[in-house]
Amino acid sequence: MSTDAGRLWGARIAEGPAAAAWALGVSTHFDVRLWREDLAGSRAHAAELERIGVLEADERAAIEAALERCAALFADGAFPLEPGDEDLHGAIERWLIDELGDVGGKLRAGRSRNDQIVSDLRLWTLGAIDRLVAAVVDLQEALLERAEEHRDTVAPSYTHLQRAQPVLLAQPLLAFVWMLQRDAERLRDARRRVDVSVLGNGAVAGQTLGIDPERSATALGFSAVAENSIDATASRDVVLEVASAAAILATTLSRLGEELVLWSTSEFGFVRLGDAYTTGSSMMPQKRNPDVAELARGKAGRVVGALTGLLVLVKGLPLAYDRDLQEDKEPLFDAVDTLLLTLPALSGAVRSATFDVERLTAAAGDDFALATDVAEALVLEGVPFRTAHELVGALVAEAEAAGHGLRELPTQRIAAAHPSLPGRWQELLDPRAAIGRRRGRGGTAPEAIAQQLTRAHAAVATLR
Ligand code: ARG
Repeated sequence: MSTDAGRLWGARIAEGPAAAAWALGVSTHFDVRLWREDLAGSRAHAAELERIGVLEADERAAIEAALERCAALFADGAFPLEPGDEDLHGAIERWLIDELGDVGGKLRAGRSRNDQIVSDLRLWTLGAIDRLVAAVVDLQEALLERAEEHRDTVAPSYTHLQRAQPVLLAQPLLAFVWMLQRDAERLRDARRRVDVSVLGNGAVAGQTLGIDPERSATALGFSAVAENSIDATASRDVVLEVASAAAILATTLSRLGEELVLWSTSEFGFVRLGDAYTTGSSMMPQKRNPDVAELARGKAGRVVGALTGLLVLVKGLPLAYDRDLQEDKEPLFDAVDTLLLTLPALSGAVRSATFDVERLTAAAGDDFALATDVAEALVLEGVPFRTAHELVGALVAEAEAAGHGLRELPTQRIAAAHPSLPGRWQELLDPRAAIGRRRGRGGTAPEAIAQQLTRAHAAVATLR
């Protein structure tokens, strides 16, 4: 055999690696998942090698055929990884040489694992972004379905986790649709920078054989070509960018999870998740635990950890390729895997949820929540807001001291605050009327929600 098995540098280093050194460096257990991208890169590279005359047509045909057999083995989970394979690239070369003899060893010309791994990772990341965006869109659709269904349901809104003003339930549901929209757009934006080909840049300074990186890029379906061989092989900023977008997405999922956790407590009682998305307790027979929502919250820690690890990994590395960079893959894979587990579970949980319309409406009915509406009504009568705030504050204090709401205050007392108030007191304090007054763009009036739903559907459609 003309190569030192799956180790690609046998000739220069006489002694084999110590077991501990080898164990530290082996990456096949995680880079094996790049087999599709690696074989695609090899096909593109073989085409270039034939074009420049390094491979005869029949040699290239033999390599092509072998690569196809190799793909079939991987697809069947039957590729024979060997203990001597350091990484995926070495394993495939070792296998090709076993299959083809010396011809298998020709494929390495003009290519380094340094450009090869970046090419593989960029290709894989493009696919990962597409899968993530599709999963985000599905969650957005689940939320949109529920928002359509509850475009008339009155619900409380919160600030400081204290009841604030009444809204339509569609409003918080749509809030998550918009957050997810930006999360998906962030991934899409990053995709443009991932979509750059690096094959042909060799180990650090390109190659002398006449391989044309533009042709390799076209063959692999990349939209752009790297401008600098050092940048091409050393940079991982696009990995950091995708991991950042992933981490931000994870925080959105965590907040949605938290909302479901809170809303499904007996204390709130606003939502009941379907049985298929609820767990019982091994000890307490009465429990319905929102594990899916809690895990959505918990998994965020892991995805943020991936980003943190990657940032620390890259910081301070000298140009160009350093072996440290082998550590870029597991965190990225884990972040993507984690999100692809979390997103469908959350979509299912949202679709399974039953909202308790009565409880939501009752919780939004507290008329102190409409003190701002009374103050704003006075502003429209020409009262300075500061004065209006004081007048209404005094009314709230009195009602509270008397143990009732604003609605029950005596008419003379309301008139004393402002003569315009008694005639429309009940209407001012009606939650539905209050919701209907918030007609501006972004507001929660039925017609504003209708427009928002239209825009949200259109926004989500741009992601598909
Ligand atoms: N397995 C390596 C990685 O994932 C690529 C190999 C580069 N190794 C080298 N000695 N130049 O980054």
